[in-house]
Amino acid sequence: MDYSAFTEEAHRLFLTDYSSELNRNGILQPTKNRDPIFPPWLGIEYESMEMDRAKYFLYYTSIHLCLKSWDPKNILNILVVGAGRGRLVDFCNECLNEFNISGTVHVLEVNTCANNLLKQKFDGDSKVVIHEPIAIRTVKEIESAISSNHCDSKLTNLAKTKCVDLFVSELFGSFGDNEFVAEILSASVKLFGKHSESGLPLCTSIPESYTTYICAIHSKTLGKYFKENPSEQLHVLGLPRDTTFLTQIADVYTASCTSRLDNTKHNVIFHRKSGTEDITWTGLAGYFRAKLYGELYIDTRPTAKQNTYFWESAFFPLTNDFTPSCQTVTVSISRICKKVKSKQILDVKYPQLKMWYEWTCPEGTSTHNANGKHHILYL
Ligand SMILES: C[S@@+](CC[C@H](N)C(=O)[O-])C[C@H]1O[C@@H](n2cnc3c(N)ncnc32)[C@H](O)[C@@H]1O
Repeated sequence: MDYSAFTEEAHRLFLTDYSSELNRNGILQPTKNRDPIFPPWLGIEYESMEMDRAKYFLYYTSIHLCLKSWDPKNILNILVVGAGRGRLVDFCNECLNEFNISGTVHVLEVNTCANNLLKQKFDGDSKVVIHEPIAIRTVKEIESAISSNHCDSKLTNLAKTKCVDLFVSELFGSFGDNEFVAEILSASVKLFGKHSESGLPLCTSIPESYTTYICAIHSKTLGKYFKENPSEQLHVLGLPRDTTFLTQIADVYTASCTSRLDNTKHNVIFHRKSGTEDITWTGLAGYFRAKLYGELYIDTRPTAKQNTYFWESAFFPLTNDFTPSCQTVTVSISRICKKVKSKQILDVKYPQLKMWYEWTCPEGTSTHNANGKHHILYL
């Protein structure tokens, strides 16, 4: 299979749409990375997300290729996790019809407003089952909700039959896993995925895996902003025009979307670019690349391969002016995720998980956001 035509088409769409987005809204100002489910997304946020055509083109192509290879003699059960207003549900439904596959598209969406829209949109479509609004956070939470009869019968049945062959979702943040993709999907697979008799998952996930990246940058505009607003929080922003990339865009780690991550420290060795000796590092820009299906990837890195703009740069600010004196600099990033002790279940106002990043630059200096002192993300 030659994937290059799809990749080139996505890049072409990206170039057109990103230029319109910049003309319409300008460069995204720094904002603190927010929690993924509370407060819930607004209609206007879904609208702006849906304008990134390249991302949907790649999702559509992935779903299409995956269903094309499915033997239509077998029933196919799909679960869309975090369906928003239903674009990925449409794609699954269309492809089931195109390839004459019998099956069901189960849909989970925690946001009540989006969930109501989904119910209206797919009312009367026997292939699509919209479940009551619920967040998938931990296996334990859903299992105790089921055993205490707090889940509707459709979801209880899905957990009993564990019949899902294909998971489709779009739960990334700008740094890949800053919106808990691995926790949500690993719990979803455990709860609802088809498994072998020996307990191995037999299901597929679109997306399959992802890699995170960082790059040291200098920007006078961002330097001024973070001098006035000192911060050890993960931010999301558009890089200003005065940004200089001081190092290569280095990969930090690669992870499966459907396995829980260990709390590991990752070291990255940067080679300073020549001619940047006297330049201060303002911070570390963060990106991700995710394998959707086969050799189809979404890629947020600002290179000739970038094919989505909805996820702007993640940004790890550096609190001290740092100008490296050596050719190589080691930076470390840790992602720490822990359970929250909570007696309340099924209420998005009461999180079940907390997660934060800690970063040290260069290694040996003090750690930013140590123990989540300045910024914790909750699910
Ligand atoms: C980035 S949006 C994607 C929307 C949709 N997939 C699309 O393509 O338009 C993520 C959606 O997932 C929902 N969501 C996030 N975490 C969730 C969870 N743990 N359980 C259920 N829904 C979740 C959010 O409410 C939001 O609507």
